[in-house]
Amino acid sequence: MCGIVGYVGNRPAQDIILGGLRKLEYRGYDSAGMSLLEDGEIQTVRAVGNLDHLEAELESRAGGTATATLVRPATIGIGHTRWATHGRVSVQNAHPLAADESRIHVVVNGIVSNYMELRTQLLQSGCVFATETDAEVIAHLIATNYSDDLADAVIQTLDRLDGYFAFVAMALEEPHVLVGARRECPLVVGRGEEESFLASALPAFLAHTNRIQYIENGEIVVLRAGSVEIRDAAGAPREREIETIEWDEETAEKGGYETFMLKEIHEQTDALAETIADRTASGHSVDLSDSEVFDEDILRGVERVTFIGCGTAYHAGLLGRAAIEAWARLHVEVDVASEYRYRSPILGPGDLVVGISQSGETADTLAAMRLARERGARVIALTNTMGSQATRDSDAVLLTRAGLEVGVAATKTFTAQVAAVFMLALRLAELRETLPAERIAELVAQLRHMPELVEELLERVGPAVEEAAEWCWQAPFFLYIGRQEGVAVALEGALKLKEIAYVSTDAYASGEMKHGPIALLDEQTPVVAVATASPVLSRVVDNIETVQARGAKVIAITTEGDATVAPHVATAIPVPATDPMFQPLLATIPLQLLAYSVARRRGLNVDQPRNLAKTVTVE
Ligand code: G6P
Repeated sequence: MCGIVGYVGNRPAQDIILGGLRKLEYRGYDSAGMSLLEDGEIQTVRAVGNLDHLEAELESRAGGTATATLVRPATIGIGHTRWATHGRVSVQNAHPLAADESRIHVVVNGIVSNYMELRTQLLQSGCVFATETDAEVIAHLIATNYSDDLADAVIQTLDRLDGYFAFVAMALEEPHVLVGARRECPLVVGRGEEESFLASALPAFLAHTNRIQYIENGEIVVLRAGSVEIRDAAGAPREREIETIEWDEETAEKGGYETFMLKEIHEQTDALAETIADRTASGHSVDLSDSEVFDEDILRGVERVTFIGCGTAYHAGLLGRAAIEAWARLHVEVDVASEYRYRSPILGPGDLVVGISQSGETADTLAAMRLARERGARVIALTNTMGSQATRDSDAVLLTRAGLEVGVAATKTFTAQVAAVFMLALRLAELRETLPAERIAELVAQLRHMPELVEELLERVGPAVEEAAEWCWQAPFFLYIGRQEGVAVALEGALKLKEIAYVSTDAYASGEMKHGPIALLDEQTPVVAVATASPVLSRVVDNIETVQARGAKVIAITTEGDATVAPHVATAIPVPATDPMFQPLLATIPLQLLAYSVARRRGLNVDQPRNLAKTVTVE
């Protein structure tokens, strides 16, 4: 996701910020910028594309010489790499964002979920907005609250903001101070000799200092060259120990995790929160207007929805089918893009085709989307990558906001896709009036709660997953089973194991087991059953008993509080209880971790599995 770097000290801030941003490149970005304060003036440089473009822009402002640059003597500044989520990829939307005639500058990560409401209020009070971003409201609020103390203005501003974010602010009138704040998104301080650093991740300043202080949730931090004050949300000082970090750069890039995949599995809380938060900010309905998803009349007129995608994205489509059928009572079709593109689908203006692709560049998905468009359907690109080909080859875009995913096997982008198809289903149900408003409100409330449940699950699921991996990791074949939504989870869990552990798997609707796969079972076969709460759970339990009778051992993903599954299985891995439709979002996570643990026990490189590519731009 986006990267933040702030510096105040005694050396040229421009070089330190640019160097810091380069260390955050692994997080992915599409534009970058920095603001430097010197001699009673703040200068800003922003550029679309990679940091070489920003550097070239800095040089051209300085008269084209490679050595003399913009305001090299400036010893305070803030920089940012942006991964577009609200507003196009453009110089205008790149950070830093300014307010009050450039007196206040901010760089922001994450999302302000109530930005629409704040923007309307600020516009009414005369603020002029220069960007399409959600983050700009922070700059204007700080400017509005500012009299002579930036920290006070930030504290007052925080009170007005909902969401998941971290930001750093700089004020023209206080040329020696940076103020940062965080809610959920990370922020960490680096302490040097008469210089202080503030960044969204450690690699940004590890080359300069390894003495760090973590900013905790809800805190603000006031940075000066020789001092750092941490305060709570009310402004009261907080003590924080300075820690010495011994990480090398590679470990730091992975946030201390041993692999990118493990880091990304743990980032699912944030990816979901960012994907869901502002679109459900009302608490009772879904608003997809940020995503250029068609106007209400068009959505109301949809007669059939088709999901197309490849690999993991196809599995998200299966869950989209379940939700739209159940809630919006529409016909739904799902197909893998490589098949769909060579079919002769019957399509017309009542058809809505959703191409799901985290990269937005998968050749088969793009071809299938083009075919659908040619045949008269309206096409939505559901993607994690703003500006990707899919967003250009579609009528509308529904963006997931999972940030860059480095691990080849999709994890956080999958759960974000599932959250997005659920929101689309709820929006359709709302417009088509196929569910009572109270039921929609209840589902929206549960969806908003999912990031917390994911966090809770991630905190405590490890031991049960390891217990399962311990006895099954050497098995040559795994069978995954489930019913209804559980089939999609079984397919996704089996795909993860294939992809990263190179273990042969099959995934089946468990009612079909008796028609073939049961012949594969013996004492050596681990069977992974998705047995979470659902109207068909008792059927799944019957299937598990059938498996047990053949001597195979079962790992079951269950729902907390259920007592019907555990007695029949070798290892039960419970996930928090929710509406059955949301269980797949949780049930997938232990299966990601199980595949991960098996792969690591087999000594494999999970981030870059053999023969696979993250983005498949060829047929
Ligand atoms: C590749 C990746 C998968 C991904 C699939 C579709 O196979 O390894 O993780 O699910 O492509 O990619 P897309 O970018 O279209 O979602």
